[in-house]
This record gives sequence, structure tokens and C-alpha cells, in this order.
Amino acid sequence: MKSLCKLTVEIAGLGSHLPERVLSNADLEQMVDTSDGWITKRTGIRERRIAAETEATSDLAVVAARNALAEAGLSPANVEAIIVTTCTPDYLFPATACLVQTALGADNALPYDLEAACCGFLFGLAQGGALVVAGVTENALVIGAETLSRFTDYTDRRSCILFGDAAGAAVLTRSTGTGEIIFCEMGGDGSRQELLMIPGGGSRRPPTHETVDNADHFMKLQGREVFRCAVSKLGELLVRIPQETGISLDDIKLIIPHQSNVRIIRSICERAGIPEEKAYVNIDRVGNTSAASIPIAMDEAVQKGVLQRGDLVLLLAFGGGITWGSMLLRY
Ligand code: COA
Repeated sequence: MKSLCKLTVEIAGLGSHLPERVLSNADLEQMVDTSDGWITKRTGIRERRIAAETEATSDLAVVAARNALAEAGLSPANVEAIIVTTCTPDYLFPATACLVQTALGADNALPYDLEAACCGFLFGLAQGGALVVAGVTENALVIGAETLSRFTDYTDRRSCILFGDAAGAAVLTRSTGTGEIIFCEMGGDGSRQELLMIPGGGSRRPPTHETVDNADHFMKLQGREVFRCAVSKLGELLVRIPQETGISLDDIKLIIPHQSNVRIIRSICERAGIPEEKAYVNIDRVGNTSAASIPIAMDEAVQKGVLQRGDLVLLLAFGGGITWGSMLLRY
């Protein structure tokens, strides 16, 4: 799906939340046959955060949402839509958005979940923007939140080094200033579903003693192939930005790619001939946090003053499904 029509919405507030517990590469050395050197060199990750035993996805989401609402100056009672994007919900149902709604006291909001793995937040922003522009709601609170540690097999060194827990949120409102969604392209290819999945626990393979013994309730990842597809697809998306919008990549202040591997980020920058510093990177501190990855990076970039009002920012996502997306915004 391509969309050139501008969505006259702005991000009125951003918020994020990382749980306290740090899982370092040194900690992982004690758990599986790996090394800090291998993980840092092959992924760029040095540490990631892990939710406390008492914390679920909605708990992280609520903190991020409160921060975003405070920045937007919007009270929970005035939130009209809550879209939680997650592939690690508290429950199969009810939707995590319903749990967030009640914890926030956002009694007047339409709450629902959207699942698109690592692309969730980008898809959620597009959908929230469409709700607001269509006049269905006045605003939308879009949250990317994950507790991937609950679905990670800490005996599998190929995957357990990658993932962390976190939440990020954005409040979308009709534009009052220069903010807008200028362009967005989103897509997917379900025929590559096996590249990255949790095979057990759903209706295809409901939980049994056997699925648990087989560890089917944990993420299965074909890392090398995901890497190859991500570089290729994100590279295509990047090339199309100037073609479709007439805006040069040089004029974009910051690229916020989904944080899955620093080598993927470097490779797409190199192929597109853009300096690596143009891409925001925090994977060293947070790992891959799936749907939370882009909003927490964006919130950090704003806090640090790297991204300011009026700047052009490009979001790039790739993940399970497989799914992908790019979104050019004026912040
Ligand atoms: N520590 C030490 N060695 C490891 C290791 C680890 N944590 N993980 C894998 N290895 C070994 C493998 O066993 C393999 O050894 P072998 O050749 O003796 O079999 C060797 O390193 C290469 O494995 P490979 O899986 O090809 O490594 P890689 O360079 O592709 O890196 C990923 C693995 C997962 C880091 C990388 O493929 C990746 O980042 N993929 C994309 C990220 C992703 O999938 N994100 C989720 C969706 S967004």
C-alpha cells in the first residue's frame, strides 16, 4: 500500500518507558555459549532491559502513554482512540488496549490492538492518523509495547541475545503547526511467515504439554535470512522516498530505523549513500524491542534535541509477517 496523500496530523506528544532490570552481554555469557565480543560485533547490542516478573506489556505501555499524554497536554478523559501495537499482549484477549484504557482512566476512548510485529508502531501511526483525518476521532494514542523476554528461549544463543522489553507512545492530533505525515508506504509478504514466528500457543497449535516440551511457545528466528530480507527491503523503501516525494534524502534530518541489528542500519545507509550518523541508533542500550523500538528511539531523539519541531524524519520498519514500512513525517 502506498500513500502519497498527506495526513494533516501531528505528533503532539511522545513518551517511552524502559523497565529497570538490565540484561548485559556479560549476563548472557553466563546463560549460553556466547561472548560480549561476538554479540557487540555481530549486532551492536551491549545490553537490553527486561520487565520485572510482576510487569506485563500493558504495565510498560501505561507508563509510556502517561508520558506522551503529559507532553501533549491531553488528559486521559479526552483520549478518543487507543491503538496498542504489540506481538506480546498480556492475554490473547481482551486486547491490551482495553487494559491500558482502564489503567489510564481513558473512559471515552475506542481501544483496540494492532499486531504487525516490528512494524506495529508505524502501521499504528498510519491508522491513528487516518482516524483523525477522517474525523472518526479527534486524537489517537498510539502505543508500541512489548515484553519479548517472555517469549524468548534463553537456551537459544541465536535469538536470545537480540530482544528487550520496552514501550513507546505517541499522541496524534490534527495539525496545528507544521507537523504532518507526508508519505507512507506499507506492505507485507505472508509467504515468508516462517522466517520469524511463535509457532505454538495460538489456534493453529494450541498449548499442550507437547508444545511446551518442544519450546513452541518461544520465538523462532531464521536470523540470517531475516537479515538479508531486511537489508534488501529497507534499501528499496529508502530509494523510493525521493522518487515518490521529490524530497532528497539530504533534506531529511533524521532516519529512525527499527533497531534490529546495527549492521542492517549501516548497510542500508551505505547502499543509499547517506552518512551513517543520519540514522538514530540506540540498539546498544535497548536491543530489539519490536513495536516499541521506533517510538522509544524517536522520544530519545526529541529529548536529546536531535529531532526538533519542523524537522523531516523518516521512520523505517521491517519485521515478522514479514511486514515492512516507511513513513516520512514533518515532526
Ligand atoms: N554467540 C556466538 N556465536 C553465535 C551466536 C551467539 N550469540 N549466535 C550464532 N552464533 C554462531 C552460529 O552458531 C554460527 O556458527 P556456525 O557457523 O559454527 O554454525 C555463526 O555464529 C553464524 O551464525 P549466523 O546465524 O549466520 O550469524 P549472523 O551473523 O547471521 O548473526 C543474527 C545472527 C541473529 C545476529 C543476525 O542474523 C541478525 O541480526 N538477523 C536479523 C535480526 C532479526 O532477525 N531480528 C528480528 C526481526 S526484526
